[in-house]
Amino acid sequence: MSKEKILMIGAGRMAQAIINGLKQADFSEILVGNNTNSERLEEVEARFGVRTTNQWQNHVSDQDIIILAVPPEAHEEVLTSLSEVIDGQLVLTVAAGIDVKYLEAHLPEQTPVSWLMPNTAASKAESMTLFTLGHYVTDEHEYYIEKILFSIGQFKKLTEQQVHQITPITGSGPAFVYRFADVLIKEVQKAGVTEVVAKQLVAQMVKGASEMLTSDLKCPQDLMDEVATPGGVTEKGLQVLDEHGFDQMIQEAIRQCVDFASGNED
Ligand SMILES: NC(=O)c1ccc[n+]([C@@H]2O[C@H](COP(=O)([O-])OP(=O)(O)OC[C@H]3O[C@@H](n4cnc5c(N)ncnc54)[C@H](OP(=O)(O)O)[C@@H]3O)[C@@H](O)[C@H]2O)c1
Repeated sequence: MSKEKILMIGAGRMAQAIINGLKQADFSEILVGNNTNSERLEEVEARFGVRTTNQWQNHVSDQDIIILAVPPEAHEEVLTSLSEVIDGQLVLTVAAGIDVKYLEAHLPEQTPVSWLMPNTAASKAESMTLFTLGHYVTDEHEYYIEKILFSIGQFKKLTEQQVHQITPITGSGPAFVYRFADVLIKEVQKAGVTEVVAKQLVAQMVKGASEMLTSDLKCPQDLMDEVATPGGVTEKGLQVLDEHGFDQMIQEAIRQCVDFASGNED
């Protein structure tokens, strides 16, 4: 059976995370292009065994699916070049804020498009990816989109508005978890433990908590109650988080991410 031909435009962190998943899944032939960094293309070619090109525009007509993994601000230029050579191929972007409305407005009429919002855990096939579909996506296109997303983790189809609102949680959220982990690792080190061991302790604690959240039917409050005996040590710690407005701080961070992405920052 012939493989799907995928052109990846962009060869940076997110492109490489997706290429890694696609290579493991082995249902596509991948060609990678970028802006000007030929060294990066050589690295990607050597690391993943994919073909690369410094003239991606010359190869669009041979492709089934085009994935844009370039910065949001590069989209206008890339979509303008793409529009000159595209002929009905499915176009996907992983860029923050570049929704299907934007893609459809910048590509020839009736181009099938989808906006994907993965996170960096895609490199471990553990992304929680949100996606939304444009007006001209068929069931067959959706099947291929889901195949791509399955290769990098779990996925959920949502409305465009929901992807805007939830991206700071599933896309930026890992950075908030790492920030939390960083503080804890430094605290562990104060007990005279090496950084390597401190990271191991904290990472396993986060993984265990994540596993409980994932597999247990209990809600976060029930899980907190299981840890926090009334009048005990954990309850004291949670009280301190309350006194410092932990919940409000997280809510505000999410709100400002949404506003920033939509250009409404304070
Ligand atoms: N990092 C994340 O956590 C994350 C999560 C979700 C979504 N995203 C989205 O993923 C996209 C890429 O992010 P990244 O972290 O992978 O960035 P990155 O590591 O900086 O890589 C950007 C890539 O885009 C290429 N590029 C830039 N301008 C271009 C142009 N005009 N034409 C063709 N290629 C161009 C660069 O080419 P060169 O190789 O020539 O420099 C580079 O390969 C962004 O839109 C971001 O919003 C990122």
